[in-house]
Amino acid sequence: MNPRVGVFIVIEGIDGAGKTLHSKNLCIQLHRRGFDTRYTTEPSEGFIGGLLRREFLNRTKIPPEMETLLFAADRFEHVQNVILPALGQNKIVVSDRYYYASIAYQGAQGVGVDWIRTVNSFAPKPDLALYLDVPVDLALSRIHRKKSLMENVELESRVREIYLDMVKRNELTYVDGNRSVEAVDRDVLDLTLKKISRRREGSST
Ligand SMILES: Nc1ncnc2c1ncn2[C@@H]1O[C@H](COP(=O)(O)OP(=O)(O)O)[C@@H](O)[C@H]1O
Ligand SMILES: [Mg+2]
Repeated sequence: MNPRVGVFIVIEGIDGAGKTLHSKNLCIQLHRRGFDTRYTTEPSEGFIGGLLRREFLNRTKIPPEMETLLFAADRFEHVQNVILPALGQNKIVVSDRYYYASIAYQGAQGVGVDWIRTVNSFAPKPDLALYLDVPVDLALSRIHRKKSLMENVELESRVREIYLDMVKRNELTYVDGNRSVEAVDRDVLDLTLKKISRRREGSST
């Protein structure tokens, strides 16, 4: 096995699906197995990422097309400053959300999916993109969302449908997130380890 190959893993899911928990646990497990690992998240730590975080904290509503462009701009910074350099250092990069989240969240707000894909076409395709599936009610109850509950349920339900559509198209790999933390962790780790060995044994699939 050639350790000198960076591998890019993405974890997706609706709010409260367990992305942050399971992607951090994945990094811990990979690290224990001796893999050089980099956890990262979107919005990124960059300039536009900070702007997006503040916008969400302030809950100021901007048009979803503008959101699409800002997320794409943040992603450009994320790819240039974090993802590509870490892959260049042959790390396993685990990203907590990526462009699939733009397709799902801005798509759910009526932005054309083809256009979302176009403005994100610079973003390199990951080696493996996992989708943690959790029913909307359960996911929202995990994060104790207080704010206008119905609105959240409706939006997250549309988001989930779009994610499931990407699973059908084989863009995302389905993981049942509605199980114990240990069971989900095990699947996420197994799928990742399989992908790492295939990549490091020279196959591009
Ligand atoms: N498989 C699971 N079983 C039970 N609780 C979970 C599971 N995955 C995540 N959680 C809990 O649900 C909450 C939301 O998880 P988090 O990883 O922050 O979600 P996300 O990043 O997708 O919004 C956290 O309190 C987390 O500990
Ligand atoms: Mg999170």
